[in-house]
Amino acid sequence: MKEFEQVIDRKNTRSVKWGNMEAIYGVEDASEVLPMWIADMDFKAPQPIIEAMQERLDHGVFGYSYICTKCKDAVRSWLSSRHGWETENEWMLFHHGVVPAIATVVETFTNVGDNILITPPVYHPFSIVPGNQKRNIVECRLKEENGHYSIDFEAFENALQQDVKLFIFCHPHNPGGVVWKEDDLRKILRLCKRYDVLILSDEIHADLVLPGCKHIPLAKLAEEEGGQVITCVAPTKTFNLAGVQAAIMITKEEDLKHALQQSALAHGQMELNAFASSALISAYTECEQWLENLLETISANMDYVIKTLTEEVPGIQIQKPNATYLLWIDYRGTGLSEEELMDRLLNKGKLALEPGSKYGEAGRGFLRMNVATPRSIVEDGVKRFIKAME
Ligand SMILES: Cc1ncc(COP(=O)(O)O)c(C=O)c1O
Repeated sequence: MKEFEQVIDRKNTRSVKWGNMEAIYGVEDASEVLPMWIADMDFKAPQPIIEAMQERLDHGVFGYSYICTKCKDAVRSWLSSRHGWETENEWMLFHHGVVPAIATVVETFTNVGDNILITPPVYHPFSIVPGNQKRNIVECRLKEENGHYSIDFEAFENALQQDVKLFIFCHPHNPGGVVWKEDDLRKILRLCKRYDVLILSDEIHADLVLPGCKHIPLAKLAEEEGGQVITCVAPTKTFNLAGVQAAIMITKEEDLKHALQQSALAHGQMELNAFASSALISAYTECEQWLENLLETISANMDYVIKTLTEEVPGIQIQKPNATYLLWIDYRGTGLSEEELMDRLLNKGKLALEPGSKYGEAGRGFLRMNVATPRSIVEDGVKRFIKAME
């Protein structure tokens, strides 16, 4: 599809992905390094979003902005039509990101020293944010078989018994790309209810479920199973708006919502910036076809990388994920350590991927590769990978 073939130069745009590699990877000169790491896309946002933001920009007055009913209606109807989840505007609170929302939930519902459960390998802010808030992280590693991840429910229940106050759940799962099945979701809800553990369900990747797979919002099942759930969603991952910043926290529980509102008041926050509201409304009301096209492009990029790398590089295995635009590459068969592999990739191949241990020790032996980029760049990345491994 044409819109996903265009190569856009992102250098000198203050892009973390393209401009911050010296600091992140410790290389002296990153000008020749191809970044396929942090989770944003190299594609332009959908045209209706650009126009909505342009209209807002052209107005020229950028005073305080509030979150209007149209904004909430847009979120509500998207969740209903895309995910079959009926929500109400009153259940929503807005934030400038899912990571800041995680910080808010941790701060609001746990105390210093409290135990928080995560399932590594998992998105690293799940441990970094609570860790910086002096909370204690309890890990229940996912079970991994040939690159397929599942929850070990016996270990999960044992972990919940360690006086855990909050479970931060990644659904779909980053970095493994797992779209959790209904049976898993029900078990999670029942167990967390049994041990009185609040769940923060981070569903930022929910819209990036690849063709043929279906995301079930955890909170939708909580209506039958019970359990306390705060869900975080956002248009930013889906429509490549990370730098615009917007996220929504959703909970049906009046007391949880009230506590979050109090926390917002304590920090003087929870509005969106003037551009984010315009972008959000357009994203959720005008851009579904763009998303369908994107998902096909990502799926095809994944097929290409999986086929080429597994054929060309001995010791590499990759399972196609069910969601996200991230490949989780298993290099254990190469016999290389993470340090050796990263050195080869960065210095020989000139390619920046994410080392798996960033997602916890459970991720060691894997690399995360972002394929949300035009095919010509994907091909370049694959060539660099092959060169690094020669
Ligand atoms: C699981 C997960 N949550 C949250 C985020 C980031 O959210 P935000 O940019 O809204 O803070 C990411 C980004 O990759 C993610 O993978």
